[in-house]
Amino acid sequence: MTNKQLIIFDTTLRDGEQSPGAAMTKDEKLRIARQLEKLGVNVIEAGFAAASPGDFDAIRAIAEVITESTVCSLARANENDIRRAGEAVAPAKKRRIHTFIATSPIHMQNKLRMTPEQVLERAVQAVKWALEYTEDVEFSAEDAVRSDMDFLVQVFDAVIAAGAKTINVPDTVGYSVPVQWGERMQQLIARVKESDKVVWSTHCHNDLGMAVANSLAAVLAGARQVECTINGLGERAGNASLEEVVMAVKTRRDIFQLETSIDTTQIVATSKLVSTITGYPVQPNKAVVGANAFAHESGIHQDGVLKHRETYEIMRAEDVGWGANKLTLGKLSGRNAFRTRLTELGITLEGDDALNAAFARFKELADKKSEIFDEDIQALVSDNVISEECFKLAYLQVASQTGEIPHAVVTVTENGVERRAEADGGGPVDAAFKAIEQIVASGAELQLYSVNNITSGTDAQGEVTVRLSKGGRIVNGQGADTDIVIASAKAYLNGLNKLHANAERAHPQV
Ligand code: KIV
Ligand code: ZN
Repeated sequence: MTNKQLIIFDTTLRDGEQSPGAAMTKDEKLRIARQLEKLGVNVIEAGFAAASPGDFDAIRAIAEVITESTVCSLARANENDIRRAGEAVAPAKKRRIHTFIATSPIHMQNKLRMTPEQVLERAVQAVKWALEYTEDVEFSAEDAVRSDMDFLVQVFDAVIAAGAKTINVPDTVGYSVPVQWGERMQQLIARVKESDKVVWSTHCHNDLGMAVANSLAAVLAGARQVECTINGLGERAGNASLEEVVMAVKTRRDIFQLETSIDTTQIVATSKLVSTITGYPVQPNKAVVGANAFAHESGIHQDGVLKHRETYEIMRAEDVGWGANKLTLGKLSGRNAFRTRLTELGITLEGDDALNAAFARFKELADKKSEIFDEDIQALVSDNVISEECFKLAYLQVASQTGEIPHAVVTVTENGVERRAEADGGGPVDAAFKAIEQIVASGAELQLYSVNNITSGTDAQGEVTVRLSKGGRIVNGQGADTDIVIASAKAYLNGLNKLHANAERAHPQV
């Protein structure tokens, strides 16, 4: 890595997964990891190995298949976490352990109940444990933004002497502003003794909407790694968005004078995949990956763009992967064409049964919709994400008419056994959900319901996201269909299956 290279560290699968309801299955994480590798990220933080056996397995599975990117696991600064992280990333060609401990007075006193001396000692010990598994050890000082500067310098001096290769400075609570964050990075680099021996990194949260601006300020001050997530997913208001950081550096090369290894034409596909899997829709006016990011509404703008694109556009839509949406398959396409397109899209379905099931859904969709786009295929395979699917929609009939109360009749199979119920509701979707609840009696609370169309046109598939909560757990369920009431019922059952299947996970900051 030259000093002109900016390392892109993606934490969608770890910090991103800490967004409420964004918990992913092992297969979903694998699909995202493969796409991140195709995108060209340098480091994939694949999870937090000690959080749960599921997290551990997913990191290990990613470590077994990813060869170009470094595979990393997060670990708190304790022996058990670090050993779990070391075992999880062991199969990776390039592996990293990312260990962290809080350094701010508020965290040390109230959360860790440790003195600064104990924190310093533990940080050094953590780096030493991690070095037993890999030379590539990253150390983070959690809540660096509210930490005392002299103490931070002391901790960083010590962990570098112990062998840490990357020093990450997080704005854990999204409190900083760019001028302050740049200054902090500059001072740290100036004051830490062997600062030229390590890569300086920044990890910013978006609570005040400045995660990207703060990250870029740190880069201008000398940071050469940015920790970020696809679509800015992450704890609370999220992390710095990868696509914005990368496109800022590329578009304003005059300012940053840095290169990244990102294949920017893969950005939109990655954004869509993450959105589909996590159930977090991308807001239309989101920079770079929002549906309107390159749409010109006003006549003056349209006229200007037609005459000379650069009048209103600073980036080219095709450079970030817009317009790559290919009309790929239709009613007459066979299994081989379907399988080939899945491979081109980077989707691997484990085993013939999964492929057969996805192909059957594709044929069903092709009967209802004349043109099948890549997004349709992505949605179609993500219908199949839960390995242990307890509840399945077998039948749905809804009556909805002006002046009449909507009524739904639903049949759900529960572990293969058919059960039927009917219910009235405020609308057809409400009636369908009530009928499902009569069968499943989950008691889950519906926190969010949203519908998006996957492609354009009235025959487009509607993609429904529901967020369900029960007993402190939150999941996002998704379903797609050309009929939005059916899509809604599928989404509801998908959420219930996730509530049923997901094991408890620990949170890294606890
Ligand atoms: O926000 C944060 O401080 C983190 C650390 C674990 C790096 O996510
Ligand atoms: Zn974070």
